[in-house]
Amino acid sequence: MAQKAMRDIEITRATTTKLNDFSIEQFTFGKHYTDHMLEADYIDGEWTNVSIKPYQPISISPACSAIHYGQSIFEGIKAYRDKQSGKIRIFRPYDNYKRFNISAHRMQMPEVPEDLFIEGMRQLIALDEAWVPSVHDYSLYIRPFMFATDGYIGVKPSTTYKFLIILSPTGPYYSHPMRIFVEEKYVRAVEGGVGFAKNAGNYGAAMFPTAEAKKRGYDQVLWTDAKEHKYVQECGTMNVFFVFGNTAVTPGLESGTILEGVTRMSTIQLMKDMGVKVEERDLSIGEIKERHKAGELTEAFGTGTAATVLMIRELADNDDTLLFPEDKWKVGPAVKAKLDAIREGSAADTYNWMVEV
Ligand code: COI
Repeated sequence: MAQKAMRDIEITRATTTKLNDFSIEQFTFGKHYTDHMLEADYIDGEWTNVSIKPYQPISISPACSAIHYGQSIFEGIKAYRDKQSGKIRIFRPYDNYKRFNISAHRMQMPEVPEDLFIEGMRQLIALDEAWVPSVHDYSLYIRPFMFATDGYIGVKPSTTYKFLIILSPTGPYYSHPMRIFVEEKYVRAVEGGVGFAKNAGNYGAAMFPTAEAKKRGYDQVLWTDAKEHKYVQECGTMNVFFVFGNTAVTPGLESGTILEGVTRMSTIQLMKDMGVKVEERDLSIGEIKERHKAGELTEAFGTGTAATVLMIRELADNDDTLLFPEDKWKVGPAVKAKLDAIREGSAADTYNWMVEV
């Protein structure tokens, strides 16, 4: 039975729930979806047909321009169940919202209004509230995305788009610290390109180099800059940090080749609060190797919504293998613990990062 809610979102409830088919703790990333999804259409310059309905396939033209020319963007956000109150809170959705429209602009796609993105997400999560895990390291992964829907294979920006939000309960993205391959042949992004945008093509282009690295036994690649293959960029699906004593270094954003991660900015803030000096600057593989050899580089870790904070245990560059023994890890685990505590409600949310559903 359809009913109207705030913001004219038409809500059609699922008649049954799939939740009972699963034990939530068994969820691995990206495999299972909740009972409902949000869908909206961009037609004639306006967002319309906004609805929350049972999770279901969507119908598109075989000439759908997103499939042919790649106007397709997405975000990754997480919601947690507060340990104290049991309430559901979303981690920094306004920051992801802002980045979503930055991606949209770069890909010549329409902006999604804040109330559709945020309010739509809240209403959707409220409906599927029972799916939010209360187990440590588990959360509800929120995937908003938009793609071009014109059934036209001439190369031009689409005039119509779909915006959807789907939800997937998830545990840790990686279950172990990573072995990383330094990529010095293929590139992820160039200056003037789309590296700062969260468009689908960035991930498609990474598949082949990542598969090659996996064949060699690595979990992910560490991208280097496109001009010289000298400076580190980001790591697979994560931003990357290297810790030298009490200083953490991460590549800066000026080149436009790196995704401005929400977990990255949170990590920078938390490290500063812990008294760790943070440098956002160019960092060469040469410096990493030299300072690792000198015993100054003790930790490396990745940050991302899906991955949260994930330690690197090995970094392979040509014939050199840099090891990062666990007994030296300090800053990465401390940041993860603090971030988890804020998200799960056992530490104060000083920066108002958590948004209640
Ligand atoms: C995220 O961390 O949310 C991502 O989007 C990375 C990946 C799962 C695509």
